[in-house]
Amino acid sequence: MELQSCVKIMNEWDIVAVRQLGRNVAKELGFGTVDQARITTAISELARNIFLYAGQGEVSIEKCYHEGKRGLKVIAKDKGPGISDIRKVLEDGFTTSGGLGAGLPGVRRLMDEFDIQSEIDEGTEIIAVKWLR
Ligand SMILES: Nc1ncnc2c1ncn2[C@@H]1O[C@H](COP(=O)(O)OP(=O)(O)OP(=O)(O)O)[C@@H](O)[C@H]1O
Ligand SMILES: [Mg+2]
Repeated sequence: MELQSCVKIMNEWDIVAVRQLGRNVAKELGFGTVDQARITTAISELARNIFLYAGQGEVSIEKCYHEGKRGLKVIAKDKGPGISDIRKVLEDGFTTSGGLGAGLPGVRRLMDEFDIQSEIDEGTEIIAVKWLR
């Protein structure tokens, strides 16, 4: 498949689709089943947050290369309400929706690199990378 793939997130089926795409790319890269599960869990948490809090957005899955390492990069982007306190949403149990508040802290733990950029009323972009070892 091509180097990058992007799925528009507009309904719950799109969450299933991007999760499947992520699993396929992870397999192609040579990740084992445990890391495949980590990656697909992270992807569905990010896609679910877009659906729940921004209504719509997109998730891209890319193969990436750095200093001889191969990895999988997830980019989750939306033009939703944004996140006012990024430090807070990274704490276990913080939620504005009555969820578990486990999504974002979980994604951070499951992946090797994790970065959030968010602006109130502008939207949110989260990038997460898992390196193959
Ligand atoms: N894309 C987003 N846009 C705006 N706010 C977001 C976005 N993603 C997360 N948030 C905010 O961050 C909070 C924490 O997100 P997180 O995924 O960690 O927990 P949750 O979605 O509330 O519960 P869980 O994922 O465990 O079901 C959310 O309650 C929401 O307020
Ligand atoms: Mg969540």
